[in-house]
Amino acid sequence: MTEKLVLPNLATERLILRERTLADLTASVKLDQDQAVTEFIHGVWDGSPRHVAYVKKRIERQYGQGLGYWSIFFQDDPTQFLGWLMLTPVEGSASLVKIGWRLTRNHWGHGIATEAAQAVTQYAFRTLNLPKLAAAINPANERGQRVAEKLGFTFKQPISVGDEQLALYILPQDRWTALQQK
Ligand SMILES: CC(C)(COP(=O)(O)OP(=O)(O)OC[C@H]1O[C@@H](n2cnc3c(N)ncnc32)[C@H](O)[C@@H]1OP(=O)(O)O)[C@@H](O)C(=O)NCCC(=O)NCCS
Repeated sequence: MTEKLVLPNLATERLILRERTLADLTASVKLDQDQAVTEFIHGVWDGSPRHVAYVKKRIERQYGQGLGYWSIFFQDDPTQFLGWLMLTPVEGSASLVKIGWRLTRNHWGHGIATEAAQAVTQYAFRTLNLPKLAAAINPANERGQRVAEKLGFTFKQPISVGDEQLALYILPQDRWTALQQK
């Protein structure tokens, strides 16, 4: 059996991100069950065994070296699950990696998603040396797009993912590096 790959902890001014584990399963399922959180995300988010099995599989799955999900916590309260950040391969692409974010609603509006996503983006470019990152976002999801734009992503094209019509955003490493120097 292949051993599960271990993601590094990532720290920001306010936050600590550590690999999402089965200890975060219940909190992850609860997060999805908030209809405002999953408003723009297709899936079964009703807390049913099917939903729980889906999240469990996402937690246990191996995504490739250095890729996967981080759970987000405050530095000064490492027990309260705030949500997650992910870096996972784009289905059907040999090399493209996508970033995604999901936060508990009571923590929206404090810059947490952007702060956590910036740390994961830095890791993707500085540690993994990925040439670019993708984000696939529902065009109606303005909050999600706003986080991508604040990181420097720009809209590339509409894409179909399963039965969903999403907007593909791209952030090349050199653009991100240039933005850090401003
Ligand atoms: C998308 C999502 C993660 C955004 O979370 P968020 O906390 O609202 O995002 P941000 O980190 O950008 O914070 C938003 C606001 O916090 C405010 N803010 C407060 N303190 C801040 C700080 N210290 N630093 C930065 N922003 C701060 C800003 O005004 C910012 O608004 P702006 O867009 O006008 O700049 C969240 O809405 C969510 O989980 N949605 C459901 C899941 C989802 O749709 N995910 C994306 C699917 S692709």
